[in-house]
Amino acid sequence: MAQRVPVIGLGTYLVRRMNRCSGRLQLQYSTLAEATKVCAAVKYAIDVGYRHFDCAYLYGNEKEIGQANAAKISEGIVTREELFVTSKLWNTFHSRAKVAEGVAISLKRLSLDYLDLFLIHFPMGYKEGRSSHPGSYSDVDYLETWKALEDVVDSGKVRAIGISNFNVPQTKRILDHCRIRPLCNQIEVNVYLQNRALVDFCAKNHVAVVAYAPLGGEYAEVGSDLGSPLADPVVHETAQKYGKTPAQILIKFLLQQNLIAVPKSVTKSRIKQNFDVFDFTLEEPDMSCLRALDKGQMYRSTAMLNVCDHKYYPFHAE
Ligand SMILES: NC(=O)c1ccc[n+]([C@@H]2O[C@H](COP(=O)([O-])OP(=O)(O)OC[C@H]3O[C@@H](n4cnc5c(N)ncnc54)[C@H](OP(=O)(O)O)[C@@H]3O)[C@@H](O)[C@H]2O)c1
Repeated sequence: MAQRVPVIGLGTYLVRRMNRCSGRLQLQYSTLAEATKVCAAVKYAIDVGYRHFDCAYLYGNEKEIGQANAAKISEGIVTREELFVTSKLWNTFHSRAKVAEGVAISLKRLSLDYLDLFLIHFPMGYKEGRSSHPGSYSDVDYLETWKALEDVVDSGKVRAIGISNFNVPQTKRILDHCRIRPLCNQIEVNVYLQNRALVDFCAKNHVAVVAYAPLGGEYAEVGSDLGSPLADPVVHETAQKYGKTPAQILIKFLLQQNLIAVPKSVTKSRIKQNFDVFDFTLEEPDMSCLRALDKGQMYRSTAMLNVCDHKYYPFHAE
């Protein structure tokens, strides 16, 4: 059965903080205050029309997202069938024996009996255990992980499977060996990192692209000196021309290339604004000016530099 994916989803990763001393991105886990924020954000997003939620084991807030969804279902605002919920298998669950457990944990936290989409979060496997960032790797081949995910589809616990942060050769390897094709590759795409070769490869092979960090991300791990796409003068000029905000221009730029975008916000006005992009079309000369903002590999919000020696690290120059 063909899957329908709402083209805008709410991003739910709230927990990055810049370590001011090292200047490097430091991962922190969801605090209660942040989890409460995401619950309110999801409820509000449903009220203004979002149906697609981009979640992950790593984000540490699936329980609160599940509570928000359940509240809106019981209020009669939305049905489960209308929601499209994605989660992602973390790197410490890559072995065939651990995949089903990874799915079960996300389902339980989200209070769901199936996921619409489940992704391998990164091609790199980490050592199994309690820590999400154990500092050592497993050598599990992501093809083994994929085969186990195919079995999860057969079990009915997930409706579709996909990959995230896979580069061209890694995506091709999945396509060459799969029984069930990936619905999507979720990768970073924004005006500064347009990821053309990978986006074109996915399009040619009928793999949908879900663009994460569509506004440029909260912080840039690579290229922070370039500033943020949200502050780019060309984006601002375009916004003025269309009577829209810079964020709306950045999101529309992606949608007009047939990408799915998952902007994150916990601010009511921005949640609403990011969804309000269906009443205008960027003309080709403006699309062309926005395409010219591409910085190639010079900008990346999620670079995972701390694990760049992993054999499946995907972001070496392509
Ligand atoms: N697969 C992966 O490896 C991966 C990696 C990264 C992200 N993701 C997913 O993609 C989602 C989005 O990416 P992201 O969170 O990195 O970055 P993003 O959506 O590009 O940017 C989020 C930042 O923009 C701000 N913002 C949102 N709407 C705005 C608006 N209209 N005007 C001005 N600022 C606005 C947000 O602030 P406020 O929240 O304070 O409003 C937040 O600081 C994540 O939440 C996650 O679901 C996936």
